[in-house]
Amino acid sequence: MRIFLDTANIEEVRQASKLGVVSGVTTNPTLMARAGATDYEATIKEIASIIPGPISTEVVVEGVEPMLEQAREMAAWTPNVVIKIPVNADGLEVTSILAKENIKVNMTLCFSANQALLAALSGARYISPFVGRLDDIGQDGMQLVEDILHIYDNYPDINTEVIAASIRHPEHCLRAAVIGAHIATIPYDVLMKMIQHPMTDAGISRFLADWKNTTK
Ligand code: E4P
Repeated sequence: MRIFLDTANIEEVRQASKLGVVSGVTTNPTLMARAGATDYEATIKEIASIIPGPISTEVVVEGVEPMLEQAREMAAWTPNVVIKIPVNADGLEVTSILAKENIKVNMTLCFSANQALLAALSGARYISPFVGRLDDIGQDGMQLVEDILHIYDNYPDINTEVIAASIRHPEHCLRAAVIGAHIATIPYDVLMKMIQHPMTDAGISRFLADWKNTTK
């Protein structure tokens, strides 16, 4: 499973990239606002200069023509930009057109397996089921990811990759990897929590203390 960082915060992208484990970044308007990014283009370009992998940026207009126009503009910002389009009727129409123009789409705000099936049929490069937001309303978000993976596995000609999104804690990431999600997009704090284990810290202290004692 590959790991994308779910942030528009440049400092977080910079710090996480040093670990050598992050191969892409996803943003959305909320993450842009949280990062204080008013210029989407400059922000996406800066992120791409740190992590060249797929960088998702989301359209912020509605309707087929406005979304198409904005998606085409965004696609020209930097190589490897991926356009986030919501899974609804207009979004499917837009995605099927962009796919024919070889513009990569990450269909976002996916909350059902049927939406994911349609996204794949429309030519989406990625589908983003929102795990945490489903958990929030008492449903099993990871079961949705599992169902989508199962459906896609039934049809080898489907090449859409599943991004487990709306990840809230390390256990989400672990479960996504166990069930075979292609990618998990995770917030910076979750990535940091995944690294930590008290026994690793205790083990390092013990080894260093023993080394000092034996080399006195
Ligand atoms: C995915 O691409 C979204 O940016 C993100 O995972 C949404 O997560 P949230 O539910 O924490 O806002």
